[in-house]
Amino acid sequence: MLRKTVCFFGFFGLILCLWMCKSLPDLNAFVTTPSPSDNAMDSAKIALGKALFFDTRLSLDNTINCASCHKPGLAFTDGKKTSTGINGQKTERNSPSLLNAAFLPTVMFDAHLKTLELQVIVPIQESTEMGHNMRTLIPILRSVPEYQKAAEEIYGRDFDAWVLTRSIAAFERSLLSMSSPYDHFMNGDSSALTKKERAGYKIFSEKLYCTECHVPPNFTNYEARNNGLYMDYGSDKGRFRIKQDSSQMGHFKVPSLRNVEYTAPYMHDGSFASLEQVIDHYAKGGAGHQLQDPLIQPFTLTKKEREALVSFLMTLTDLSFAARL
Ligand code: HEC
Ligand code: HEC
Repeated sequence: MLRKTVCFFGFFGLILCLWMCKSLPDLNAFVTTPSPSDNAMDSAKIALGKALFFDTRLSLDNTINCASCHKPGLAFTDGKKTSTGINGQKTERNSPSLLNAAFLPTVMFDAHLKTLELQVIVPIQESTEMGHNMRTLIPILRSVPEYQKAAEEIYGRDFDAWVLTRSIAAFERSLLSMSSPYDHFMNGDSSALTKKERAGYKIFSEKLYCTECHVPPNFTNYEARNNGLYMDYGSDKGRFRIKQDSSQMGHFKVPSLRNVEYTAPYMHDGSFASLEQVIDHYAKGGAGHQLQDPLIQPFTLTKKEREALVSFLMTLTDLSFAARL
């Protein structure tokens, strides 16, 4: 009887293990996630970074945390045209997804900041976002016993800006999304995409020119390009503002299209509410800005082809990270 019982539970244990292993993130990808030599990943660091990411004390009036504008359930975007910081102030731009940010060689729509560590300071000190400054913020966070203790244990030092920026960046590097139906298909499961979705990928990559900039596997070439959004970019001229270089007018970072189902509204200013509008933009060949990338050319798609294209873009959805948080 005992043997039978052990055998019974052993069998179910195996099934449970197989099922759980299947739902785990791709560990190989995790191991190869780039992390700088001065900020190796470790679980205590990621846990501290996560606590800080969700802590409203990072904002001057204790109302806003990083997740206010980067919500896990919306692929770390906020669903708004432009975001809202302290005192109801509006930011200039749409909040980008933080998933797979570990792979970005440069961050922000101007593709100008070289590390996630450097980026952390920007929203904290930006008056329309968290409105704090590091000099007053650090003593506040140091006085939180769990933070000070973690800083001593992990970094062997008092809680300071180094600890803050390294920990949040390590947490961000742990936000991986690479277990979508598209990934399962690429890993050999031919049933992961329907015929329509496969036809959509062919349109995206062969009939059209999308993969020239939205290059798999992360669906970006990590460059700043002008996709002809406007004839006149008005007050936000993109990367131009970094060095006043007129050849960079209207250049914005090519965003990853992973989880694009959840990152609406689209573009740096959230000007398109739907993927239909995005496709309309490209189909008319862009607005015709003088620096518009020559790749952007007009095209026509049948209703069926459009539907297939959108259905393919939906196969890039993998929100399993949200359940793991
Ligand atoms: C008030 C809203 C708001 C808050 C709060 C906020 N962000 Fe952002 N975040 C944005 C917007 C908008 C951008 C795009 C800015 C740009 O490109 O000029 C952005 C960009 C980023 C990027 C660059 C991503 C990329 O793809 O280039 C990272 C990383 C990031 N934020 C992390 C954080 C972290 C960490 C915090 C908390 C310390 C935070 N954000 C707080 C709105 C916010
Ligand atoms: C020349 C490079 C280039 C090509 C080719 C290109 N894109 Fe883009 N794409 C961009 C850039 C740059 C942005 C961001 C522009 C901005 O923020 O204002 C963008 C943004 C997007 C977005 C919005 C994503 C988001 O989260 O905001 C979608 C969707 C998109 N492109 C789909 C496509 C499709 C579909 C095609 C093929 C028809 C295509 N792109 C071809 C450069 C390109």
